[in-house]
Amino acid sequence: MTTVRKLVESTADVIGDRTHARWLVEVAVSADRIDDVLDEEVTERMVAHLDAMVGRYRIGEPLQYVLGRWAFRRLDLFVDERVLIPRPETEEVAGVAIELAMAAEGTRTVIDLGTGSGAIGLSLATELPVENTSIWMTDISTDALAVARANLAGIGRPARNVTIVESRWFDAIPANLKADVIVSNPPYIAQDSCDVEKSVSVYEPEVALYSGSDGLDAIREIIRRAGDFLTANGVLVLEIGSDQRLTTEYLFEECGYVDYEVRRDVFGRDRIAIGYRPGPAR
Ligand SMILES: C[S@@+](CC[C@H](N)C(=O)[O-])C[C@H]1O[C@@H](n2cnc3c(N)ncnc32)[C@H](O)[C@@H]1O
Repeated sequence: MTTVRKLVESTADVIGDRTHARWLVEVAVSADRIDDVLDEEVTERMVAHLDAMVGRYRIGEPLQYVLGRWAFRRLDLFVDERVLIPRPETEEVAGVAIELAMAAEGTRTVIDLGTGSGAIGLSLATELPVENTSIWMTDISTDALAVARANLAGIGRPARNVTIVESRWFDAIPANLKADVIVSNPPYIAQDSCDVEKSVSVYEPEVALYSGSDGLDAIREIIRRAGDFLTANGVLVLEIGSDQRLTTEYLFEECGYVDYEVRRDVFGRDRIAIGYRPGPAR
């Protein structure tokens, strides 16, 4: 009899990583918690499913796509090759946006531009109070929005606060909408960059990664247009490349933000750019 435990051991031998083996087997046997089913017998169908996943993993497909899910803050997101794999540094970007939105008075409105899997926008939806919160999530990619919608369906009651629109940055946002916080993790890699890991360039969507010859096209456009969609005292929160601090600060200055800062991520890299709009009460 082959048990789940034996399957984990043989998978770990094949791929050389016990933690990944546990996660792969957990998905193959459709268990919520692998520890609860270690002594159960596996079926031929489960083994075939695992074999297919291990094959993909061994040729270099990112674990997250093979598993079809990934944790982001409190969410268990469905992910596949239509969306960027949510990163740990983006959890911090979302955390800053949540903190700033929490401080907004009355109905708080937040826009997440380039939502991909919905990682940032759905974290806002689930971590902010359900009352008086409105979240707009946009993306130019219909494929990405299909994934974001699938994830929206999994969050329960806060989903009612979310509006998803296909949009090139602000193009489809109602002209009279004013947000307390605009947050985005836009593409920010230079088109011909040689620094991109192979698993990223081969598997992750190009539209989620590259942004013009210097990687700054999206950041430039978002900073220049965000003022039209922010309340007085509104805040723009952007994830940026670790070498983009000076240009981002220059753009904030040029676009009339009264104050701005760039915070470091957990890895100590310049990463979270925050621009504060001028307003009567600051
Ligand atoms: C770096 S990914 C971020 C995805 C997700 N927010 C996250 O943090 O995991 C950038 C996203 O921006 C979207 N995007 C790229 N160009 C865009 C544009 N011009 N307008 C709107 N979205 C765009 C991509 O489709 C992609 O989903």
